[in-house]
Amino acid sequence: MNHKQALKHNVFKIISQSAKKLNLDCYVIGGFVRDYLLQRGTPKDIDIVAVGSGITLAKEVSKNLPNLPKVQVFKTYGTAMLKYNDIEIEFVGARKESYSKNSRNPIVENGTLQDDQNRRDFNINAIALDLSENNYGELLDPFNGIEDLKNKIIRTPLNPDVTYSDDPLRMMRAIRFATQLNFKIDSKSLEAITRNNERIKIITKERIVVELNKILESQTPSLGFLLLEETKLLQHILPELIALKGIDEIEGQKHKDNFYHTLEVVDNISKHTKDVWLRWAALLHDIGKAPTKKFSKKVGWTFHGHEFEGSKMVYHLFKRLKMPLNDKMKFVQKMVFMSSRPIVLAQDIVTDSAVRRLVFDAGDYVDDLMTLCEADITTKNPKKFNKYHNNFKIVRSKIIEVEARDQIRNFQPPVSGEEIMKTFNLKPSREIGQIKEAIKEAILEGEIPNEYEAAFKLMLEKGKKLGLTPINI
Ligand code: CTP
Repeated sequence: MNHKQALKHNVFKIISQSAKKLNLDCYVIGGFVRDYLLQRGTPKDIDIVAVGSGITLAKEVSKNLPNLPKVQVFKTYGTAMLKYNDIEIEFVGARKESYSKNSRNPIVENGTLQDDQNRRDFNINAIALDLSENNYGELLDPFNGIEDLKNKIIRTPLNPDVTYSDDPLRMMRAIRFATQLNFKIDSKSLEAITRNNERIKIITKERIVVELNKILESQTPSLGFLLLEETKLLQHILPELIALKGIDEIEGQKHKDNFYHTLEVVDNISKHTKDVWLRWAALLHDIGKAPTKKFSKKVGWTFHGHEFEGSKMVYHLFKRLKMPLNDKMKFVQKMVFMSSRPIVLAQDIVTDSAVRRLVFDAGDYVDDLMTLCEADITTKNPKKFNKYHNNFKIVRSKIIEVEARDQIRNFQPPVSGEEIMKTFNLKPSREIGQIKEAIKEAILEGEIPNEYEAAFKLMLEKGKKLGLTPINI
């Protein structure tokens, strides 16, 4: 069957003509072909393999494109890239790799298309579409990648031990694709990944995080984390999650398995948000439970202070994985730190002042925090499940009420420190803080409205109690 319809974009004709001029064959390969066969929406990137120099082909293509795009050359890899209307097109020469017995360093030689397909990661990524004039749109699928797409299976063209050992990042990629596409990993592959899991250590943290993010951005991230756990990759990447595994029992008292609970929370939250950082927060919300776990005869299992401990661990984890230590990290920390707050609310009668305090502390993140806490309800007791969800509904509507009335989010004190100093003719001092705190507390408790006049009056009263005398009044 011919697949010309995959090549509707005018850039393919231009690549084809450029290759003809250089008298070489070239093919589209990898994600573009795979996603076209899966009908997975509009592709972003195109990978071209040339039987000859990919760099020369890229330069020729650029000359023939209307916007004459700049060609970025990566000499060490022998590849080149150009951008055309937001699509990144990557060019590579077909290569044959062999490994000498004494060294793991590959000897890279020019090769045929088949050589190049051999050294790709998975059968589903090794399907090529011919761009030459005579066979335009013909599929070349030596490893039956199309069958694998139909059967939803991930397999390697070569012996999986060779494919994964050549490039251990592929172990993460296999799990990432299985999660994104809801495919199974072939059992031989799964065994090879398990056997080679140690080799993930030679991969840069940045590349690992790219794959982790893709797993987290999938519809059901737990699929990926379960595979990472099964293959023992997870213990090299996120040992904090492994530490949550298991159920302890002392004197007939058990706690839940916080690893599987966490994965349930991540799947739950993924139904309500695409924000990968909020998904990270769900993944890490309980990591403080392992180091804070205690048993006492009186109260059974406790995890006192796990939110604070967890938020500190978030920093170390981000640092170790070379993730950004910026406002995104602070957001995850804040979510972890506050993750139990609304639950306490939902177990009790929801008072206005408790909601006001929640909005005050969470600020702009209060909606995200509510989303996290709703996802955290994994109880299998339907009575409790309904009760908590109903209470959260009340909390959510009270947040809107309190917000409209009191504007607590991003609270700015209605009377400033400067005004307090002026009123009582004070230099910077402890009393200013005390007055400000009293005003904030009174607003949060609902004793006074969040307005200037009421706050000014309270300032005078509080000042008097502290023995201060106002001037100019
Ligand atoms: N590839 C490989 N081994 C890797 C990375 C990539 O063999 N470690 C090959 C695969 O044939 C892959 C192609 O290079 O299809 C392009 O890689 P990349 O752009 O990273 O992935 P895609 O398959 O295009 O998928 P996605 O865009 O979803 O990441």
